[in-house]
Amino acid sequence: MKFFIDSADIEAITEFTKSGMVDGVTTNPSIIAKSGRDFKDVIKEICSITSGPVSAEVTATNAEGMIEEGLVLSKIAKNVAIKVPLTWAGLEACKALSDKKIMINVTLCFSATQALLAAKAGATFISPFIGRLDDIGEDGMDLIRDIKTIYDNYPMLKTEILAASVRNIEHVKKAALYGADIATLPPQVVSELANHPLTDKGLKAFLDDWNDSGQKIL
Ligand code: G3P
Repeated sequence: MKFFIDSADIEAITEFTKSGMVDGVTTNPSIIAKSGRDFKDVIKEICSITSGPVSAEVTATNAEGMIEEGLVLSKIAKNVAIKVPLTWAGLEACKALSDKKIMINVTLCFSATQALLAAKAGATFISPFIGRLDDIGEDGMDLIRDIKTIYDNYPMLKTEILAASVRNIEHVKKAALYGADIATLPPQVVSELANHPLTDKGLKAFLDDWNDSGQKIL
């Protein structure tokens, strides 16, 4: 399973990239606004840190505008993936831009039939929003399972399932169990992934015993 970082926090992206765990980055207009930086500058900088896909989202709401913005954003770097919303205009832009061999991430997906449309439009990635479905009392993970089943029924569909709106480690585990290709994670969730109280307890015990032994490796 691939991990993307869902953030424009350069420090966090740089730090996690050192571990070799970062396969790409996703952003959205809210994340960019929060960064307080120029959109194109920040995407360019992220693209220089990771060679994986970096999602940059259009903000036009009609297909023509999305295509125009997508073409501009795609010129920032070779690894930019254009993010379009799951609307008919977004699907039209997805088809037009993917025909030009530009990577497309179709975002704001909340149903399996939406995911089917995105795949038919040539999306590179489909982003089902897990946490936001949980927020309204549904189980976001059911959507991952449904999309996986549908895509597996039609092997000609090459779209990768990118679990988004991931809020916790349980989401990451279930996304992996149900076969999502990628999960995009906020930095805080990435930090928590390697944590376990028994790891901390065990390490402390090992180091205490080692220190008592008086030995040194170097
Ligand atoms: O990947 C989409 C993500 O940025 C949205 O997450 O937590 O705002 O629902 P959230």
